[in-house]
Amino acid sequence: MKFVHIYKGTIVHAPKLGEFECHENAYLVTENGMIAGIFDTLPQKYAGLWVEDLEGKIIIPSFTDLHVHAPQYIMMGMGFDLPLLEWLNTYTFKEESRYRDPEFARRVYNRLAHELIRRGTTRVVMFSSLHREATHVLMEELERAGITGYVGKVNMDRNSPDYLCETTEESLSETRRWLEECRGRYQYIKPIITPRFTPSCTDELMAGLGRLAEEYDIPVQSHLSENDAEIAWVKELHPDTERYYESYEKFGMWKKGTVMAHCVHSDEVERKAMLDAGVWVAHSPDSNTNIYSGIAPVRKMLNEGLKVALASDVAGGAKLSIFHAAGEAIRASKLRYYYSGKKEEEAYLTVPEAFYLATSAGAEYFGAGPGFKEGDALHAIILDDSILPPSRDLTPAERIERLLYADDDRTIAGVVSEGRRII
Ligand code: GUN
Ligand code: FE
Repeated sequence: MKFVHIYKGTIVHAPKLGEFECHENAYLVTENGMIAGIFDTLPQKYAGLWVEDLEGKIIIPSFTDLHVHAPQYIMMGMGFDLPLLEWLNTYTFKEESRYRDPEFARRVYNRLAHELIRRGTTRVVMFSSLHREATHVLMEELERAGITGYVGKVNMDRNSPDYLCETTEESLSETRRWLEECRGRYQYIKPIITPRFTPSCTDELMAGLGRLAEEYDIPVQSHLSENDAEIAWVKELHPDTERYYESYEKFGMWKKGTVMAHCVHSDEVERKAMLDAGVWVAHSPDSNTNIYSGIAPVRKMLNEGLKVALASDVAGGAKLSIFHAAGEAIRASKLRYYYSGKKEEEAYLTVPEAFYLATSAGAEYFGAGPGFKEGDALHAIILDDSILPPSRDLTPAERIERLLYADDDRTIAGVVSEGRRII
C-alpha cells in the first residue's frame, strides 16, 4: 500500500534559472515520500483522501548548503577583521582543535543539525575537522536530525599548528579507517574526500587522497582561488603550475562531482577547466565579503554554463541561513556589476536566479530536481509570511522576494527532508 500525503497551498519552485513557477491553491502530492506531481485540481484517484491544508502558506523546495564547516559553527561572526590566512591561524584552527573531544563535538553538532533544519537546509556538503571520531559524531547527529548529504574528515599534514596537524601516514590511515567504518553505518550521510586546501596538504598526502577517492569512488571537496595571499602561496608551493586548480588536478581530484568552494579569483582558463571536468562551484558570498576575499564572477560562471550553487561557508559566513546567502549573492553581484562600469557580462543576479541557486542548483548536485520533480524524494519548506509586516495583496513571486530579504526563521513553519516531515 502506498502512503499518500497531499499538501495544499501556494507552490513555488524554479525549474529553470531565472523563472519562478507558481501554483496558487494547488496540490503537491507525495506517494511514500516521493513527489507524484503538482496539480491545480486534485486528480480523481486522490479524491476523498486527507489533505493537509496550508492555506495562506507557501511551499518551496528546501535549501542545499554546498559548503559549510561544521566545527566552525561555534565561531560564527568572529575574527572578520582579519583576512583568510590570518583568520585561520588566529581563530579557526584553535576552535577546530577542540573537536578532539567527541563529547564536546556531540553537544555542538546536535545543536548545529537542528539549527540547519530550523533554517530550511536539508542537504549539505560539509567539512568536519581532522578528527575521525568527531566526524562520526557529526554524521550521526545529521542523520538523526533528518539531514542528507556528504561529510568529509578534513586532511592537513603541513603548514598547520601542532595541535591541528597529522603526519602524512596518520592522515591517510585515519581516512581509510574512517571510510571503512562508514560502510553500512549511515543511510543518508555519505563520506567525501576533503583535503583542507593545497597549503595544508603535502603532495604525498594529496596523491594518497586522490587514490582513496578513486578506490572508494567518492567525490572530493576543497577550497579554490579564494584569496590573493592564498593563491600566491599555492603558486610558491607548486612552482610547476600556472593556476591553483592544477594542484588538485595533478592528484586526480579534478573530476565530476568535485566541489570547490569560492573560486572568487578563478580566471577564464580555470573556469573552463571546471566546466570541462564537471567541477562544482560552491558560491559563498557572505564569507567572501566577511573575510574580504572579493566578489566571485557568478554571472560569468552562469553564462559559461558552470555548475554553481549557494553555500554558507560558516564560519567564513556568519549565518547558516541560505535565504541570507541568496540575499548576499544578489547584493555582491550588484556591487560587482556597478564597479565593472555596468558591463553586461557582469549583470547582477535577480531574485528568481538567486532562488534557483538556493534550491534547484544544489538539488542537482544530489541528482534531484530542478524544482519539485516527479519521482524525487520530497525536500520542502513550508513558509508562513503572516508574521511579516502587513502588506497589500502580493503575487507569489513578491512574497518570495520579501521572505528572502526578511531572512527570518520564524517564517519557516515546516520542513520535509527525504519525504519525511522533520518540522
Ligand atoms: N581555506 C582553508 N580553510 C578554510 C576555511 O576553514 N574557511 C575558508 N573560508 N577558507 C579556507
Ligand atoms: Fe570554507
